[in-house]
Amino acid sequence: MEPVATSERRETVRSAFLRGARTYGDLGSPLYRALFTASADDPDIVALACHAQKGAQPAFHLLACAHYLLLGQPEDPLARFYATLTDPPAPPELAFPAFAVFCATHRDALRELLETRTVQTTYVERCGILLPLISAVVDEVDEPLNLIEIGCSAAILLTLDKYAYGLDGGAIIGPQNAPLTVSCDMRGGPQLRIPVIAERIGLDLHPIDVRSDEQRRWIVALTLPELRQPREDLLTALDVVAATPIRLVEGDAVERISEVLAQTASPVCVFHSACLSYWSADSKTAFDDRLKAASRSRDIYRCGIEAPESSYAHHQGLTAGASQAAGTSELTIARYRDGRVESTVVAHGPFFGPFEWIATPAWSRRAPNSGPRSGGSPQPQKGSAHG
Ligand SMILES: C[S@@+](CC[C@H](N)C(=O)[O-])C[C@H]1O[C@@H](n2cnc3c(N)ncnc32)[C@H](O)[C@@H]1O
Repeated sequence: MEPVATSERRETVRSAFLRGARTYGDLGSPLYRALFTASADDPDIVALACHAQKGAQPAFHLLACAHYLLLGQPEDPLARFYATLTDPPAPPELAFPAFAVFCATHRDALRELLETRTVQTTYVERCGILLPLISAVVDEVDEPLNLIEIGCSAAILLTLDKYAYGLDGGAIIGPQNAPLTVSCDMRGGPQLRIPVIAERIGLDLHPIDVRSDEQRRWIVALTLPELRQPREDLLTALDVVAATPIRLVEGDAVERISEVLAQTASPVCVFHSACLSYWSADSKTAFDDRLKAASRSRDIYRCGIEAPESSYAHHQGLTAGASQAAGTSELTIARYRDGRVESTVVAHGPFFGPFEWIATPAWSRRAPNSGPRSGGSPQPQKGSAHG
């Protein structure tokens, strides 16, 4: 029998549906806006979403699992509302009855997916957010750079050097034969350039095998149905990943990072994007401690693209009222040296940009007090050092 969630959990999940309606509607999915809104008033669907994994936006996790099953059953009546399966899709405001029937019919399968699959949403557009961070690191070290991605999902960000980038003002940088041009919406910051990469290592609880149709289906199910072009770009990027040598390591990053670092040459940059929301405060501290320990024998750089804590809490329905930080990302760069870390929030902005570069790490050769910068205007420092 299905365990009953506490009333507190059900209320939190109901809030997550209502907040998700606005967030995912604003991100371009009228279908998710309609389904999230109606689901908030359906106790059976709210109870089902209570099985979502800790740290996940429960409403989104359920919708992704339903989308995954539906992609394998294109004849189901619900399929006519999904732009992934029907062109043009039927009006979203009529979709909820078919969605409720689908959830009831596939309740056990949905519950199992919620309990076993992590949210692995990935978009190649995130390479345009990562590039300025990696450019800043490359300014400090001798290339080629070794990259370790924490929570890599399908490892798309590890192929950031394979794409062209459209910069503010119309310039394009990147390989001539790039299969995609990704836009880079950063105001200020370092001179952008394509890094020379040596080894690429992806660490994930469940690394995606891009050669598997079933695992590709999961990645597609995590996209918003109406976002056709980002999904097309994602599929192109999955082919790029398939053609690129990448070492995938399965497991909890906190447990495996020390061993992976020990096997990786210098210079090395560890990075993560949309991943730390799934971690407890203890895990974040343990991870930091492991990087500090490894930095006693060599420098380690770390880049992060993560929402502030308050934003995660808001999306999971955990906080009351509106959050100012809802829908924002913080971009950080840290250098670990001699067992200590200096970390700087270098940029921030809405989830999908535009981003504004607000600080350059004090240890950087490009910091305002270390000589002229190559891009953007000098900004005040906002760094912090921790032992
Ligand atoms: C939302 S995806 C982000 C994917 C990619 N970084 C991006 O931004 O496009 C988060 C990924 O982190 C992974 N993950 C979460 N906790 C993890 C942990 N403790 N160790 C390794 N991977 C983890 C999940 O399995 C998932 O693939």
